[in-house]
Amino acid sequence: MFLNSKIPAVILAPMEGITDAPFREFISRTGYYDYCVSEFIRVSGTVLSPKMFRKHIPELLHESKTLAGTPVQIQLLGGDPERLAESALNAIEVGAMAIDLNFGCPAPTVNRHDGGATLLQYPDRLEKIIRTVRDRVPSHFPVSAKMRLGFADPEAVYENAKRLEQGGASWITIHGRTKTQGYIPPAYWKPIGKVRASLSIPVVANGEIWTIEDFKKCREETGSIHFMIGRAALAQPTLAKKIREELGIPLCETNGQKFEFTEELNPGVWAEIFKEYAVVQPSEKRIKQWVRYLAQKRNVTWWESVKSLGSTQEILNYLRQFEEST
Ligand SMILES: Cc1cc2nc3c(=O)[nH]c(=O)nc-3n(C[C@H](O)[C@H](O)[C@H](O)COP(=O)(O)O)c2cc1C
Repeated sequence: MFLNSKIPAVILAPMEGITDAPFREFISRTGYYDYCVSEFIRVSGTVLSPKMFRKHIPELLHESKTLAGTPVQIQLLGGDPERLAESALNAIEVGAMAIDLNFGCPAPTVNRHDGGATLLQYPDRLEKIIRTVRDRVPSHFPVSAKMRLGFADPEAVYENAKRLEQGGASWITIHGRTKTQGYIPPAYWKPIGKVRASLSIPVVANGEIWTIEDFKKCREETGSIHFMIGRAALAQPTLAKKIREELGIPLCETNGQKFEFTEELNPGVWAEIFKEYAVVQPSEKRIKQWVRYLAQKRNVTWWESVKSLGSTQEILNYLRQFEEST
């Protein structure tokens, strides 16, 4: 249902503030992604309750799938092995089918509270965390990890990845940059390839895949057959489809639902999507965040204009008019 070591896959990256449940719902209608990973859920002072998981991940009511049928993996972030393991068990109690552990988040508030990329400085702790969660979660539920190359030292990836495999990770996803490198291009894919060649679990390659040429280079440098797409899911919405074609895999089943992005970035199409979203959770802040990522790496004027608009309705009107005038 999630990752098969022999079958290529395209995965939607978790993006806090962007890939929430409504986003996952409509993007899954495209059939472009084999599975999605939830935005990270922080496990800090207390164990997260089953009720909390149900509230934040509506897909848990449907066997951890969107209504269009795309599996959703639950991502936890924290540094306490016991609380993470207990929380993972609670997620599974209410329907989670796979757990991912976040060792990549660079946010200072998260790192200060012993979570995300800061843990990449402590291979022993990484191993202990994944082993504790793995041992507690029944073996047929995958437990994976998502990491960066390191905190400051990119060479840390080799030891950390080995420890995660030793601790029982079902697979690991590597974003080819350190925490210190933030989001500054480029992403370094070659180390991902070296790690992949040295491990026997699957390694998902991630970072800076914006075009089909990027994808081909990333595939060449990593030798991977599993790829995770983040920001380009918005800025280049047809890219995942093209990658599937290159990988020779069909679109995923969508339970009869269908959504097709066109080649050009069509503001009217996105306006319709936003409208649907606004019914579920009217938040112009969230919609602005989406538009900001839609505009990335493209010569579009939307973002600057949308930034100053006050309401969801104004944003929708702007995008529709923009389309009519082009
Ligand atoms: C706004 C934003 C939020 C993110 N939130 C998460 C998150 O919740 N969990 C996680 O593991 N990675 C998170 N990431 C990292 C992405 O999953 C991905 O690793 C990164 O964007 C690189 O891939 P890309 O170049 O394809 O975007 C986030 C990235 C962005 C831009």
